[in-house]
Amino acid sequence: MMKIIAITNLKGGCAKTTTTINVAACLAELGKRVLVIDLDPQGNASQWIGPENTCSANSMGLLATKESVADLIQPTMVSNVGLIYASPELSNLEKALVGEYATETILKRRLKQANLSDWDYILLDTPPTLGLVTVNALACADRLIVPVSTHVLSLAGVAQLMAVIDKIKDAFNPQLSILGVLASRVDLRTRHSGEVLESLREHFGEQVFQAFIRENVKLAEAPSYKKPITTYDNSGGAAYDFRTLTQEIMPHLESMQ
Ligand SMILES: Nc1ncnc2c1ncn2[C@@H]1O[C@H](COP(=O)(O)OP(=O)(O)O)[C@@H](O)[C@H]1O
Ligand SMILES: [Mg+2]
Repeated sequence: MMKIIAITNLKGGCAKTTTTINVAACLAELGKRVLVIDLDPQGNASQWIGPENTCSANSMGLLATKESVADLIQPTMVSNVGLIYASPELSNLEKALVGEYATETILKRRLKQANLSDWDYILLDTPPTLGLVTVNALACADRLIVPVSTHVLSLAGVAQLMAVIDKIKDAFNPQLSILGVLASRVDLRTRHSGEVLESLREHFGEQVFQAFIRENVKLAEAPSYKKPITTYDNSGGAAYDFRTLTQEIMPHLESMQ
């Protein structure tokens, strides 16, 4: 059965998009079929793996129209990975949906009604704000990955997200749970980064993945080459980190009902 994983944090620049694309690529190289839905109006994930910069069939069509979901899915530069492009109009979703009911669960209902049996996983890349788009992502996801940059830790930010998750669970999505908190941009040469990793583990315990993603310039370069790290630098440290993470999460994902 297809599983939906949202990559979320209410903060920008904490590696949500980097995590979405590279986890998708790691799952894909294991033979899984992965659909990335870009829900960030900025469209960084779309620009990274989409053949074009923009596409008129996009996630606005998913959230604000009745267009067939299958028709919104585009091929990408990565084999086994499909994409529903972002739309800049997503930042006006609230306005576009004035007069509609139950707007928090549009994505959940749209994905449930669509025939997505071709796909093993749907990864949702989300914006750094708690608007209607993010609420829709949280209301429909089975699991969450929460990347946290160890450059600038915001324990308060993660705690705030956890509180939001509890509310969404109550209101719309009782089965939602955190797959893990992912320490990203870890630079073990700096004391700060190590301390942040430690304090994450102190506060969030087992919810923090054992795997973490080290600071690596190749990860910042890869989008310009329109490649995930598994092809941009296949044998480097960053590909190793993302494969290690994927190995850690696969058993959980595969055992989900
Ligand atoms: N492990 C890493 N090493 C180096 N640069 C990284 C790493 N992870 C993310 N970045 C860079 O940090 C910036 C923010 O990452 P991004 O994935 O776009 O975050 P978000 O989607 O949360 O805003 C990007 O320029 C990205 O290339
Ligand atoms: Mg992003």
